[in-house]
Amino acid sequence: MLTNAVIHEILSRRSVRSYQPELISEEEMESLITAAQYAPSAMGRQDRHFTVVTNAELLCEIQKASDGEPFYDAPAAVIVSVPPENAYGLEDAACAIMNLMTAAHSMGISTCYIGSATGTKKTEIMRKLQIPEGYVPAASVIIGYAKEAPDEPAPRRADSVTWIK
Ligand SMILES: Cc1cc2nc3c(=O)[nH]c(=O)nc-3n(C[C@H](O)[C@H](O)[C@H](O)COP(=O)(O)O)c2cc1C
Repeated sequence: MLTNAVIHEILSRRSVRSYQPELISEEEMESLITAAQYAPSAMGRQDRHFTVVTNAELLCEIQKASDGEPFYDAPAAVIVSVPPENAYGLEDAACAIMNLMTAAHSMGISTCYIGSATGTKKTEIMRKLQIPEGYVPAASVIIGYAKEAPDEPAPRRADSVTWIK
């Protein structure tokens, strides 16, 4: 198998669920958001919106309004919202988050894709998040510095590929 720096980052990224309280810098966050914005989107419409939340009180409120504690006390989260009529909204959100997570890992910043932050969809919280009219939160990603180094990635299933030659 051939490899390079980007493939190395993809193969070594892990989801992190325990964070230090320190925030990444705004400059670093800008790089992550730009990476997310450059992800592919259905028909190139870029029909997704990114809400960067570093307000501890609001992050805590979202956690409380969701089942469990989906943000794992991370100091920052990006919520990706899409219009419900975007038939590929979830895919657009997922591609953007994947770009963000790979970029973050390459900068020594940890992340975890969060599909379970149901609190983000509650009307009062959407208002506090200033979600644009016609958009609804689809997925989130938490961002910060890991408390401890995660384990190596699990080996990949050998039965998940078919080659037709
Ligand atoms: C669509 C999607 C939703 C996810 N939602 C959550 C979540 O709500 N909470 C969580 O802890 N991890 C969530 N994850 C992270 C997965 O659990 C994680 O990627 C998986 O266990 C593999 O671990 P790895 O990312 O370290 O390779 C989600 C991942 C995806 C792709």
